Amino acid sequence: MSLHRLPRFAVALAALWLGLIGTVQARPIEAIQKSGTLIVATEGQFAPFNFFQGKTLTGFEVELAEALGQRMGMKVEWKTIGFDALLTGLQADRWDMVIASHGITDERAKAVTFADPHYCSGGVIVAKSGGAKTATDLAGKVVAVQTGTTYLDNVKKLAGVKDVKNFPADNNARAALQSGRVDAWVTDKFLAKAALLAEPKSGLQIGEFLFVERIAPAVAKGNAGLAKAVNQAMAKLMADGGYAALSGKWFKEDIRCK
Ligand code: ARG
Repeated sequence: MSLHRLPRFAVALAALWLGLIGTVQARPIEAIQKSGTLIVATEGQFAPFNFFQGKTLTGFEVELAEALGQRMGMKVEWKTIGFDALLTGLQADRWDMVIASHGITDERAKAVTFADPHYCSGGVIVAKSGGAKTATDLAGKVVAVQTGTTYLDNVKKLAGVKDVKNFPADNNARAALQSGRVDAWVTDKFLAKAALLAEPKSGLQIGEFLFVERIAPAVAKGNAGLAKAVNQAMAKLMADGGYAALSGKWFKEDIRCK
């Protein structure tokens, strides 16, 4: 082997090795049960799904994951981190599960294993009253979205949009709209509804529903045992009224996939 090929070979070996331990490392359900604690990561900046009320992490997804933990006979330990780092943290075995409103996409499904969806939603256009309402209205307009989201992917596909501006958190995208730095904001349908309900004087309007997505918790790629336990707990919650109560509390409607 010539010298200059060696590093490449070494890199390929290291990648293979990392790939292997990447799948072996994820804590199997037996180990999680034994420890008594499920480690769950979320963003904490996506109200009313996951957010901080003062110093307390709360929201629909936070309470839902705690109810799931309860059904699985374990406590939940929370980690919060930027949206972009959540799924990669699963691959590095920094936590067992992520619940942060991730839509199931083919791309993400290559890297992680999704459990059954905990709600169905999609992206809507939000603008100042009198502003853009439909996808066609967005022609020539500047749109704000959170980095790494399905909103970004879907707005990029729209013809004629002048510019798509990325923000680290969805709140930042909203702030950009309110301060007039952008013409529209694309975000989750239920989030937009709740935001406008909480602030009737925001001067914002909800426009067209752009796309539908199934939102699910994620576990490390191939951690089938944990995914199965989560699915069983979710099915119980959906059957025994626990899910309906949580959804009603946060959204005044049942947002499960129909
Ligand atoms: N549903 C969108 C997606 O799948 C946005 C999720 C944003 N979640 C968050 N915690 N900020 O990309």
